[in-house]
Amino acid sequence: MDDSAHEPLLSCRGVFKYFGAMAAVDDLNLDVQQGEVLGIGGPNGAGKTTLFDVISGLNPASAGTITFDGNDITKANPVQICHAGLSRTYQLNAAFETLPVRENILCASYYGPRNVFFPKLRFDREAQRITDEVLEFTELLDYEMVIARELPVLQRKLLMIASALATRPRLLLLDEPVGGLNVDEIEVVMALVRRMREDRPLTVILIEHVMRFLVALSDRVVVMHHGSKIYEGLAEGLTKDQTVVDVYLGEGAARRLEHIIDEELHHGHDAS
Ligand SMILES: Nc1ncnc2c1ncn2[C@@H]1O[C@H](COP(=O)(O)OP(=O)(O)O)[C@@H](O)[C@H]1O
Ligand SMILES: [Mg+2]
Repeated sequence: MDDSAHEPLLSCRGVFKYFGAMAAVDDLNLDVQQGEVLGIGGPNGAGKTTLFDVISGLNPASAGTITFDGNDITKANPVQICHAGLSRTYQLNAAFETLPVRENILCASYYGPRNVFFPKLRFDREAQRITDEVLEFTELLDYEMVIARELPVLQRKLLMIASALATRPRLLLLDEPVGGLNVDEIEVVMALVRRMREDRPLTVILIEHVMRFLVALSDRVVVMHHGSKIYEGLAEGLTKDQTVVDVYLGEGAARRLEHIIDEELHHGHDAS
């Protein structure tokens, strides 16, 4: 392997994001390797979503450098970043509410991967093909004609992931993809993320409070607090880190998490 094989796909160096005097992201350094699933945890207000906003260009960094695939994207806009192969979902549902599922995904597959200087009246064959593929992959085929705002809660979450996948990303950022879902629904999204890793060379960063989801899917975990990284390492180390237990998990949750880690990582099915 040459050196470039070891270069991180995403790299954040000394990244800050200020809202007034408050640093929502405070001197953050982060590398994500090609093909890795990185989980990000941390209490509400830790700056997790703001970090995604900064990486995806929605709300540019106040200072620092972000490189994606070797290119500086710190000042790039969201469209440029999406075209470069970095896509994201949102904590709250985001879709074209009055359009059917299929049209939502068609928009993403048509405009997501490239600049379309002269849009046609119909989506092209390639967009149709990608849309069919994504509908099947996310198990949304039965819902393709349903208007987005009328979807059940699980399918709304899946639509956001499907739209992100339709842009053909190399890096996918998922912001609380199972927030508000029940146990069975969480399993569906977990299986979907596992399929992403099998079928395509996709790198994923996921923010999640549901620890079973975070632990089962992540190769590595970062915990944020007050805009900084307070933990970076394997999920197994979370409950042994007193700062993580104190500011995020609490003693009770830490004990439950130990049990989950034991189940998912040691007796788990083909989890990794
Ligand atoms: N647009 C904004 N303007 C002002 N403050 C914001 C804005 N977005 C987030 N914040 C603040 O930044 C901090 C981090 O928020 P957020 O990134 O949403 O945290 P998390 O996703 O970890 O719960 C919070 O204190 C929040 O109130
Ligand atoms: Mg958030």
